[in-house]
Amino acid sequence: MKQLEEKILADGRVLSEAVLKVDSFLNHQIDPALMQAIGEEFASRFKAAGVTKILTIESSGIAPAVMTGLLLGVPVVFARKRKSLTLTDGLYSAPVHSFTKNETNDISVSRDFLGKDDVVMIIDDFLANGQAALGLLDIVEQAGAACAGIGIVIEKGFQPGGKLLRDKGIRVETLANIKWMEPGHVEFYGEVPN
Ligand code: G4P
Ligand code: NA
Ligand code: NA
Repeated sequence: MKQLEEKILADGRVLSEAVLKVDSFLNHQIDPALMQAIGEEFASRFKAAGVTKILTIESSGIAPAVMTGLLLGVPVVFARKRKSLTLTDGLYSAPVHSFTKNETNDISVSRDFLGKDDVVMIIDDFLANGQAALGLLDIVEQAGAACAGIGIVIEKGFQPGGKLLRDKGIRVETLANIKWMEPGHVEFYGEVPN
């Protein structure tokens, strides 16, 4: 998605060979017009997939997920990372391992909002090691729902998550796929290796 790649080149900052900072439009401040364009792109790619629900994870997946849900006309559910006061039982939960933090935390979704008749599109802001996506897939499976595929805003194609998911036969649609980067430079794949 050209508009997104241009935004990354203009406003993203490569902190190291593995970390891209996009705080000014995705991870802290949010660019609503860009989120709308992202929603349009995801919705057009998944419009024939029979999606009934979008599943993402707090917090940075929510903005692109809501725009996509608006355009597909379906509700958006976000997995929680911490236990909430009102969300106590009746949960699906799955472990998500973070290699960066070297810790594993449970994510959870209420059984009220995901069931066996759902066709779920998963959305997340970044795809690195794929651990968050695997946790979300685990929850979709626990619900007995079907997964239409995964929409990723920014994939770091040089990290293993994309291959891991595609090798499982899962449809992964990425809007900007980074081939490699270093401070001051980002190079994208021409086409998504799907
Ligand atoms: P990891 O195994 O490499 O730690 O990857 P993981 O998927 O656990 O990612 C941990 C957090 O870091 C996630 O956000 C993920 O979206 C984000 N992330 C991974 N790579 C990058 C990157 O290059 N740039 C940025 N900006 N974020 C990246 P989170 O902690 O769940 O936070 P939130 O923003 O969704 O609230
Ligand atoms: Na994030
Ligand atoms: Na995320």
